[in-house]
Amino acid sequence: MRIQKHCLLMIPGPTEIGYEALLAMAQPSIRHYGDDYVERHLHVIERLQTVFQTKNTILMIPGSSSIAMEAAVNGAVEPGQKILVPGGGMFAERFKEMAVNCNAELVSPEVEWCTPLMPELVADTLDQHPDIRVMAAVHNETSTGVTHPIEDIAEVCREREVSLILDTVTSLGGIKVLTDEWGVDYCVSGNHKGLESPSGTGLIAVSERAWERMNARKTPIHGWFLNLLNLKDYAERFAQWHPSGPVSQPSHVVAALEVTLDNIVAEGLDNRFRRHALCARACRAGMQAMGVELLAADEYASNTVTAFRIPDGTTDTETLRLMEQEFEIIIAGSHHPRLVGQMLRIGHMGSTADRNCMLLVINALAECFRMQGVKVDAGAAVEAVLAVFRNGED
Ligand SMILES: Cc1ncc(COP(=O)(O)O)c(C=O)c1O
Repeated sequence: MRIQKHCLLMIPGPTEIGYEALLAMAQPSIRHYGDDYVERHLHVIERLQTVFQTKNTILMIPGSSSIAMEAAVNGAVEPGQKILVPGGGMFAERFKEMAVNCNAELVSPEVEWCTPLMPELVADTLDQHPDIRVMAAVHNETSTGVTHPIEDIAEVCREREVSLILDTVTSLGGIKVLTDEWGVDYCVSGNHKGLESPSGTGLIAVSERAWERMNARKTPIHGWFLNLLNLKDYAERFAQWHPSGPVSQPSHVVAALEVTLDNIVAEGLDNRFRRHALCARACRAGMQAMGVELLAADEYASNTVTAFRIPDGTTDTETLRLMEQEFEIIIAGSHHPRLVGQMLRIGHMGSTADRNCMLLVINALAECFRMQGVKVDAGAAVEAVLAVFRNGED
């Protein structure tokens, strides 16, 4: 049996998986249908509704989060119709590629990377193109560590009756997501980030208005699997015995997800958001005390991932190597040509949104910089991290 050496994952997903979820998967084969499975499925969906803060229909689609992003775009926009997808990060780019693949007409105002998408830009663009009926946006842009002011953006969409597709892949479970209050029509996520489970399903909460609009399309939704109407139709017809749609679910993953959702609800969403916010603040304070430049302005800095510019005299690859080999901690680089070689990212999501993890990672980073010949004040960094936790939430 091949068991990989385990290093502490302080990356923006996959996140660490707790023992209970691991044990939930250590069971003989689990059918994805039948009475026991139906009971588990209903429980998981109810918990997901709590975490998404929605009463909308939730579908779990085998695959990863991107499958839910693509199913949303595929259902929401017809060939030749316009869709607004502002830029500004790697996952916004992904939405653009999906829209082009659906033969939609892309309207994509530039947003400078590492800066927030402003509601004024969304409002102006929608006012210039009153025929846009759909917008796709990323809540927490993992590639830059920016959390966009989605509450205000959603209001702009609501006022103009524009359907909103929202990627909450790295916000759900760590940063507040109010699907119903914000009027998100397609709220998309996955289970291996803030929900602390293994990857295996894309999650999507779909509003009543979205179903109505999909049913009223002039052209049928292309495809069978990435077709939300088809998935819902099967899920309803098979509800009594095979409730999650027409295909096999990764049932062990769902068993793990059930455990982590129970834990998340037991912790309390608001407590969880406060914990993530506190750790993010500590992380930023530690980095700033070392004199390291953060990529996102404080007001828009993500509570689940912190992106920073690597100090002159260091490289991303050497820092990543030292972190892993010397300290058994994995942080993230950048995969995008715009940022690769310039920055690194620390994930503080799920169980690593924790004081001890923050102390470990900040200390280790300071030492990795020193090993490359760049002296930073490790003592000041640790003290800054501790001070944030001592002072708590004020
Ligand atoms: C914001 C965001 N959206 C989408 C994705 C894609 O997720 P997946 O790899 O689960 O398809 C990621 C992955 O990191 C992400 O961070």
